Amino acid sequence: MRLLVLCGHAELTVSELIQILGQSQPRVSRHLKLLCEAGLLDRFQEGSWVFYRLANRSGTSLLARYLVDLVPENDPIVARDLERLNAVKQTRMDAATSYFKENARNWNQIRSMHVDEAEVEAKILASLENRSITDFLDIGTGTGRMLELIGPRAEFAVGIDTSREMLAFARAAIEKADLRNCQVRLGDMYTLPFANGSQDLVMIHQVLHYADRPKIVISEAKRVLRPDGLLVIVDFAPHHEESLRDKHAHQQMGFDVEQIWTWCRDQGLEPKAQHILKGDPLTVNIWIVGPNSSQKTNENPSSGAGQ
Ligand SMILES: C[S@@+](CC[C@H](N)C(=O)[O-])C[C@H]1O[C@@H](n2cnc3c(N)ncnc32)[C@H](O)[C@@H]1O
Repeated sequence: MRLLVLCGHAELTVSELIQILGQSQPRVSRHLKLLCEAGLLDRFQEGSWVFYRLANRSGTSLLARYLVDLVPENDPIVARDLERLNAVKQTRMDAATSYFKENARNWNQIRSMHVDEAEVEAKILASLENRSITDFLDIGTGTGRMLELIGPRAEFAVGIDTSREMLAFARAAIEKADLRNCQVRLGDMYTLPFANGSQDLVMIHQVLHYADRPKIVISEAKRVLRPDGLLVIVDFAPHHEESLRDKHAHQQMGFDVEQIWTWCRDQGLEPKAQHILKGDPLTVNIWIVGPNSSQKTNENPSSGAGQ
């Protein structure tokens, strides 16, 4: 029960659980194995690390959550475990923050080249209106900002990224915001670890310029999108900032509006809305597309898209 409670609060490794519980590794591992076999915990691998968390998408997940809720958090043993858990979370946060600090200068430099992110985020939220979101996928989640923004509106949200350091930062951020419906996973935008038609909102926010094959990324996003789903792409308009390619590993110097529409239409996605947020020297564009309902492929790619 102590393991269930802890894994109900955070995704934890065996060594973190040992540190909190003060019990031997074989004992903790044996109980984790039994809890996974019973379907109460999920085990997942991130590089060479293995994390455990409360099952939340299986038939037994309701039982797992019910069991955790039965345990009073003021029970002296549980309260001490949760106190130690907070210390573990703080250690993680410190490590993630120090990584981020090293990179923050680069990020701030790019930020100063375009409109305030708050403006972009306001446009994204306005575009979603009152849409109900069951499964939200954030591709290239980075610091998990999109999970923080949209996670509270979704039933379940997951961010994927190829960088373990960024995932550590995002994990700490969603724990700090107490977003228990959000998770982060190691995953590549070219081969998304999700079933066909499993997501109703997919976000590619400031990630596509890292792709050497952006069209494939869009086709992967389309693959996992539900028939009534939405794909939101946020990226720069074409620019000449060579430093982004030389110093920040951008593969693409922005995207032509029509180019993105064409790639989307090739995948059977049609424009739903478009926003252009002019900046100097970088303009941020938002493309919102959804599966083509009419299958009319010859219409103007921008038709139906609002500014
Ligand atoms: C500029 S950050 C954007 C993060 C976030 N979407 C945001 O806007 O706050 C780009 C992220 O894309 C991730 N990334 C790069 N290549 C990737 C790939 N092939 N698959 C998944 N993520 C990738 C990077 O690790 C980085 O965290």
